[in-house]
Amino acid sequence: MSKWPRSISAPRVVNIEDLRQLAMRRLPRAVFDYLDGGAEREASLRGNVEAFESLTFRPRHAIAVAKCDLRTKVLGADLAFPAILAPIGYTRLMHPSGECAASRGASEAGTAYILSTISGYKLEEVRAASSGPVWYQLYLLGGRAAAEPALERARKSGFSALFVTIDTGTAGMRERDIRNGTGQLMGGNWIGMIPHLSQFFSRPAWVAGYLLDGGLHKLPNVILPGEGPMSLIDVAAALAESVVTWQDFRWLREVWPGPIVAKGVLTGDDARRAIDAGAAGVVVSNHGGRQLDGVSATLRALPEIVKAANGQIEVLMDGGVRRGGDIVKAICMGARAVLVGRAYAYGLAAAGAPGVSRAIAILRADLDRTMKLLGCASIGELNQSYVEVPRDWPAKS
Ligand code: FNR
Repeated sequence: MSKWPRSISAPRVVNIEDLRQLAMRRLPRAVFDYLDGGAEREASLRGNVEAFESLTFRPRHAIAVAKCDLRTKVLGADLAFPAILAPIGYTRLMHPSGECAASRGASEAGTAYILSTISGYKLEEVRAASSGPVWYQLYLLGGRAAAEPALERARKSGFSALFVTIDTGTAGMRERDIRNGTGQLMGGNWIGMIPHLSQFFSRPAWVAGYLLDGGLHKLPNVILPGEGPMSLIDVAAALAESVVTWQDFRWLREVWPGPIVAKGVLTGDDARRAIDAGAAGVVVSNHGGRQLDGVSATLRALPEIVKAANGQIEVLMDGGVRRGGDIVKAICMGARAVLVGRAYAYGLAAAGAPGVSRAIAILRADLDRTMKLLGCASIGELNQSYVEVPRDWPAKS
């Protein structure tokens, strides 16, 4: 018998796209498109996924691989397999169990979870939901005065690494969100929501869960001095006012004792700046195609950054991972591990905590199978000889 609820077991759910379809059926349009969509013409969102499709495998056959070693080490933490759950803002809107379910799901599968600053749960609650590594993603919402106490709380409760997102100079133009009234929903502006209300009538399960959860929560990890927790509505404006710069890394190194990772690097130049700023790693990321549209697919940008990093810092990547085979391709191209964003969030939106676990299990089973079909017994042995890179891609060295 399957360990999953019937609604997310095979044959109903076989891959991540099946979870996406379930999420689409459970969420109101304003929430589904917030999760699913990208910026402007969504070229980078599509490009991330297509880049994985344009890379082909070069397997070694007639090799018996009885058991694959999928383990890896990232930022000093032992992970059961090389995929980490990415920071996703306000997953509590997708399912009431939100960030706590994601943190628990990662830990049960033996991997790490990165909590977004834009969380509906306190970082102490998210830490308590996991017995594995939990890392914190920082936006400077509310400036250094709001960040310092949050970092202190994160350190004390056991978050062991800091991911600083550097690609949000201002909020990206997500056209679906404007059409659907997502801003009004997140602002709790029900008068402004009136033209968009019909999308909620056909989603009673989501509406019931949302109301029972107490509706919209403020951000318990962004405490504005003298004012209290920040409201979701203020996030977009606050992001534009509080851009992280390389100068901030010097201050962060003083207030954060653990490793710091720059998330959102797309060029070798920025990778070298991250090294100079004292980062322990970078995430090659275009924010899942949600910020500057028209940038390179992350898989394609990866080799330039691996080369610039020159083994001095860890290189992770994210964007477009929908199958375990994608994880293998990213590692062949030089990533130490990937972050997955939408893949687990579709599961969370479809079915809460079991949906997160189901998404991770799908990716992990894919990964194991792909390794065996490739004829490679361990993640550490993967290299570029296992893939054919399109001729028009930049060379690795
Ligand atoms: C994100 N991402 C993100 N990144 C970050 O640093 N802080 C955040 O709060 C968020 N919020 C967020 C919300 C939603 C709905 C999505 C889809 C993404 C970006 C995320 O961490 C990651 O870079 C991408 O999701 C990776 O692409 P895939 O895996 O979703 O294709």
